[in-house]
Amino acid sequence: MNDSVIPPGEVHLWWARVSEAEPHLDRLRRTLNSEELERAARFRVEGAARRFIVARAVLRSLLGRATGVDPEDVVFAFGEHGKPRLAAGGPFFNASDTGDFVVVALASTELGVDAEVIRPLARRKQLVRRICTQHELAAIESVPEAERDAAFLGLWTCKEAALKAVGTGLSGGVRNIEIDLRPDGPPQLHRLRGEVEGWTLVRATLSPEVVCTIVVRGDGPQVSIRPWNFQST
Ligand SMILES: CC(C)(COP(=O)(O)OP(=O)(O)OC[C@H]1O[C@@H](n2cnc3c(N)ncnc32)[C@H](O)[C@@H]1OP(=O)(O)O)[C@@H](O)C(=O)NCCC(=O)NCCS
Repeated sequence: MNDSVIPPGEVHLWWARVSEAEPHLDRLRRTLNSEELERAARFRVEGAARRFIVARAVLRSLLGRATGVDPEDVVFAFGEHGKPRLAAGGPFFNASDTGDFVVVALASTELGVDAEVIRPLARRKQLVRRICTQHELAAIESVPEAERDAAFLGLWTCKEAALKAVGTGLSGGVRNIEIDLRPDGPPQLHRLRGEVEGWTLVRATLSPEVVCTIVVRGDGPQVSIRPWNFQST
């Protein structure tokens, strides 16, 4: 499979488990630059540092492969709100990490990706009130109680993927995005900063433990989901 070029209309989604990277950590760490290593050292929680190292190393490896340079030679530039891109040009990409998972999506057009491990949410009611529009609130409440945490986390990934796609991150305002959570089909982007033209939202199923959403410029992308192999890369 040639991964160096992402054809128009395709999204290549790679995912890895941080725990599987354990035997390879030293090698992965060596691909990070000094700023990234300093950032890793600032994490107070050991697991968070490890997750950052693995996520950044997988990202560097994929982008190196896509642009024909070694992973350590990949140079990032950053948007106004911190969205990374390739300084020398190349495929568009975005990344997310959650629990034991890191996710990287590449495409030939701008995109955002967000993943969340499905888990019980102690403060779901408050979160729903703070984050959801009236329309979304009604959709969440129509789901059986036992499924509401998962439904909310799914909605959250839709909003965050959209805000990451446009590059603002959360500073773009979670209520500026409205998601149509339909009981009979996949969620749809209903409002994205007032306009949805030109963006498509897609759910990606990479593991039953995780909900993952991609928002990409263009319509109806074909998404291929690929597990990362630390042994061979
Ligand atoms: C960016 C943001 C959405 C990330 O949310 P999160 O749930 O913590 O993290 P995720 O794992 O889903 O995504 C993190 C990745 O998104 C990417 N990212 C960072 N900023 C981004 C942005 N503005 N837009 C899109 N993607 C962004 C990076 O690859 C980042 O990986 P890293 O933390 O390993 O560098 C959130 O932190 C945010 O909105 N921050 C506010 C943006 C801002 O104003 N930042 C000020 C610092 S310059």
